[in-house]
Amino acid sequence: MRLAVLASGTGSIYKAIVDANIDVAVVLVDRPCAAIDLANTNQTPCITVERTQFGPEFDRTKFSCDVVAALTEFNIDVVAMAGFGTVLDAPFFEAYEGRVLNTHPALLPSFPGWHGVRDALRRGVKITGCTVHIATLDVDEGPILAQAAVAVFDDDNEATLHERIKSTERHLYPDTIKKFLTDMEAHT
Ligand code: GRF
Repeated sequence: MRLAVLASGTGSIYKAIVDANIDVAVVLVDRPCAAIDLANTNQTPCITVERTQFGPEFDRTKFSCDVVAALTEFNIDVVAMAGFGTVLDAPFFEAYEGRVLNTHPALLPSFPGWHGVRDALRRGVKITGCTVHIATLDVDEGPILAQAAVAVFDDDNEATLHERIKSTERHLYPDTIKKFLTDMEAHT
């Protein structure tokens, strides 16, 4: 199974995937970010499909087609989103239907969207966590594969809570990816 990782942020979730000895065929980023350096260090091909527009003029469908075109050259079977900052559109989910994984820093269906950590904190929950799920066109709606709970402390801010959640994601996500890849291999 050939895995692509899509990242935009610090790359710490991508690093956890690599540290778990999961082979990554290609890393794709949508902006300059730390994942590029990590891919270079790992001698893993890294493609940038740069997103240059963030307003209403952004052509999400074209961007999604560009992502698919870039990945097609690498014969990718499964895509793992690892903090990718662009919501992708139908052409991407049609190309990789049922084969896109995502980790979300909250216990879905609670607190979907970009601010899952902040929203949980503001709501005053005492337990939040992370969710690994199959990503679909409907953001944060796909079938749930795994979840883990994380305690919220009284003195948490968004950064401290997110870091505690990520330390759980760094185990849960690679474990779930491994299982998903093994299951897929068994069914092909
Ligand atoms: C993770 O919390 C993930 O759930 C969210 O983005 C974060 C990525 O972390 N989608 P990093 O940039 O890899 O450190």
